[in-house]
Amino acid sequence: MPLSKEEIEELYSREAKRYDSSIDAVRKIFGSRYLEHLATAVDELAAEPGETVVDLACGTGLNFERILERVGEGGRVIGVDLTAAMLEKAAERILRHDWKNVELVHADAAAFEFPPGIPRVISTAGITLIAEYDEVIARAARALAPGGRLVLYDFKIPEDWPEWRIQVQMRIRARFGQTRDLEERRPWESVARHFPVHRTRELYSGLAFLSVGEIPPPPQGRG
Ligand SMILES: C[S@@+](CC[C@H](N)C(=O)[O-])C[C@H]1O[C@@H](n2cnc3c(N)ncnc32)[C@H](O)[C@@H]1O
Repeated sequence: MPLSKEEIEELYSREAKRYDSSIDAVRKIFGSRYLEHLATAVDELAAEPGETVVDLACGTGLNFERILERVGEGGRVIGVDLTAAMLEKAAERILRHDWKNVELVHADAAAFEFPPGIPRVISTAGITLIAEYDEVIARAARALAPGGRLVLYDFKIPEDWPEWRIQVQMRIRARFGQTRDLEERRPWESVARHFPVHRTRELYSGLAFLSVGEIPPPPQGRG
């Protein structure tokens, strides 16, 4: 059974304090490439100076710095998350860096109204936690401006894994609120359904995916 939104919020309220340090510890001890993958996801977003980026399920704001390097002081980040305690950590990060152009929104992504004509939307390790992910992806596709782009990075279960391996993996993933329904959640298929231009690749030997959906820019006139 997937966790309810209340259970997810409760879990991440408990995790918030140690979220960043545990990601760092997993990197140091097990050589996790999670932070590298987040960087790849932000690079795939290809945000331009001055653009606004929505970071859905932004958590403690691990993506903010790299996004801001791209959009500069004239751009903006809107971080949306369900869990107040994760957003408090994000707010601390914003204060620490004295960023003036990051706005935090405490909301369920399923109810979040994207600003119309938004150029970029990203979500890392969040979309599979959202039961209504297909509707969220469809809404992002409708809100994106021509030339706009959505990037999703998240975990999945490799199709050819034996049951025992899935069980071990799900024990690890439970800490982050993921349950066996992860097997049924296929956001990359939603990206393919709702975006005229799309591509997906696997990372971590099929344990993660990175999907990019694009709204093509208007055709250039011949002048
Ligand atoms: C694994 S963390 C990922 C945080 C961040 N994106 C990162 O890569 O470090 C998952 C986040 O998803 C958020 N989340 C889960 N369900 C959500 C929903 N329905 N709407 C918005 N945020 C949600 C949680 O509160 C948590 O902060």
